[in-house]
Amino acid sequence: MEQGKLIQTINVIKAQECIDFLLTRPKQEIVGLGMLYGKPGLGKTTFATRTAFRNGYTYLRLEATSTPKTFAKDLLTSLYRNYCIGDFIPHGSTNTLFKQCIQILCEQEDAVIIIDEVDYAFRYHQLLGSIRDLADETLAVILLIGMQEAKDKLSRIDAHYFDRCNYFYEFQDNTKEDIMQVTKKVMSDPVDKTTTDLVWNYSKGNLRQAIKVIHMLEARPNKQTPLSELVLSEAL
Ligand SMILES: Nc1ncnc2c1ncn2[C@@H]1O[C@H](COP(=O)(O)OP(=O)(O)O)[C@@H](O)[C@H]1O
Ligand SMILES: [Mg+2]
Repeated sequence: MEQGKLIQTINVIKAQECIDFLLTRPKQEIVGLGMLYGKPGLGKTTFATRTAFRNGYTYLRLEATSTPKTFAKDLLTSLYRNYCIGDFIPHGSTNTLFKQCIQILCEQEDAVIIIDEVDYAFRYHQLLGSIRDLADETLAVILLIGMQEAKDKLSRIDAHYFDRCNYFYEFQDNTKEDIMQVTKKVMSDPVDKTTTDLVWNYSKGNLRQAIKVIHMLEARPNKQTPLSELVLSEAL
């Protein structure tokens, strides 16, 4: 299997349009806050990590244990690394750490920060507020990535915050053409219509499932077994 690719699915194209919109906005007038959200397995994290890697953006993922302080530390460490400011062991209060992040970002034109699993920030007003300050006080693009309910949750928690978010895109189920494209570009074995139909039938638009089916097809001991005889349903 070919790994590390970013196949240009419809979702990838739309998500890229979001970043382009925010990067080319009139920066003095509009804050660079946006949100991508949607069901699991559709390709949000893959888009975020691979786009960040290719373009030198800063990618951070919140975790169940994240707090305002750990986030501030992680962000500052990533910014130091990303902008080659040097090795740095962050210290000081949460407030001091965020102030340093803002200072660095003020000197970086066209900085993009992607914050994945942003739903974990919803229980901390301070964390959400600090992320908003990053968008308000710098010209950086701040792209939040959340689960399917993230947009609604944000509007319920803080209508004012929601109002500042200038671009939303909900990842959709991948189309059959998308799944076919991924299968052809990722699978090392020859791909025919039977293969793409099988991957589509088991994945139903979910890329995580599609990749699992592709791997199982490639890993099966006897490649001569007709696909129609394969029983994948129990394993998936
Ligand atoms: N654009 C893409 N190109 C290639 N593989 C992809 C792409 N999007 C997703 N995948 C594959 O699908 C899996 C699940 O996608 P992921 O980004 O984790 O979904 P989400 O973050 O929406 O839950 C990834 O681990 C990756 O193998
Ligand atoms: Mg994800």
